[in-house]
Amino acid sequence: MNLRHLIDFNDMSTTDWNMLYNLTCDIIKAPEKYAAACKGTVLATLFYEPSTRTQFSFQTAMLRLGGNVIGFADPNSSSVSKGESLRDTVKIVSGYADIMVMRNPLDGAAYAASLYSPVPIINAGDGAHLHPTQTMTDMFTIYNEKGTYENLNIGLCGDLFNGRTVHSFIKAFSRYKNNRFWLISTKELMVPGYVYETIENTDNEIITADNLEECIGELDILYMTRIQRERFKTDEEYKTQAGIYILNKSKMEKAKPNMIVMHPLPKVDEIFYDVDDDPRAIYFKQARNGMYVRMALILLLCEANRERYTDLSVYPLPQRQFCNNQRCISNKEIYLPELIKDSACVYCEHKLT
Ligand code: CP
Repeated sequence: MNLRHLIDFNDMSTTDWNMLYNLTCDIIKAPEKYAAACKGTVLATLFYEPSTRTQFSFQTAMLRLGGNVIGFADPNSSSVSKGESLRDTVKIVSGYADIMVMRNPLDGAAYAASLYSPVPIINAGDGAHLHPTQTMTDMFTIYNEKGTYENLNIGLCGDLFNGRTVHSFIKAFSRYKNNRFWLISTKELMVPGYVYETIENTDNEIITADNLEECIGELDILYMTRIQRERFKTDEEYKTQAGIYILNKSKMEKAKPNMIVMHPLPKVDEIFYDVDDDPRAIYFKQARNGMYVRMALILLLCEANRERYTDLSVYPLPQRQFCNNQRCISNKEIYLPELIKDSACVYCEHKLT
């Protein structure tokens, strides 16, 4: 694997992903073989946003590899609260740690951090943009359960606009073929254009739907998501979308006997308690898989980056704010270079108008 940072699932080639999948299987089978694999290595977890699964699974992953962990779970306990820029924080922490995991509320923050880091950066969620290590967890789980990434009917339900796990998931699947994506949401919470476009021109079909009950019988996988309250401008706006999609036992009776229910978690009210004990509900197993996948990722990234990079670029200050996505990191960290590819902002992928 020849990877410097992990910002997007598709930073990995299919060969990289297959290698990571196989390594994860081996770690699960024989964890003792890896118990000292990262001895002497330090992982930093920089969480500017709350987390249970991602943060703890990364920390546990490093501890199970024999390494050490530093970091913050709340930026107010660090010098970020004094106004320190992302760039300065990254430059400082990369002098202490060998690999960094970062979650930030702004789209594109992990990519921005990677511009200034001599050590690997792993994106643990950047705003409403991407969450690639959740996608690794999802892809690992799907292959274990279904044995394929093709010819599947996949329903994605809930907040498809703000749900970063959905965006990463769809981008990852754009490499495979003959899948039918059922995008089940209100029209307000449909996937953003840049995500839709990633599968639009592939050998996969997209069906948009607004009624879960009507299409659940078609699905092999149902990927439920939470309405992302923290991403709405007002609570009133959130309340117009909350509680519309609720999976319960009576809906599950209409589903195929081998359909699986996935969820990145946390869940709030979109899955009723009576679904948790249904053997088709695999979200707790999915979360546990995340720890093993992250062990494999840490190992491969540390191996690929034994030497620190010294060729970091020096960027000129931008002349103006160029991205019209108000949630883009480039609008907060104003020293970030103006990076544009195919008429889209490189940080958050929104088209520039
Ligand atoms: N799935 C996920 O990202 O969960 P956390 O927010 O608890 O990390």
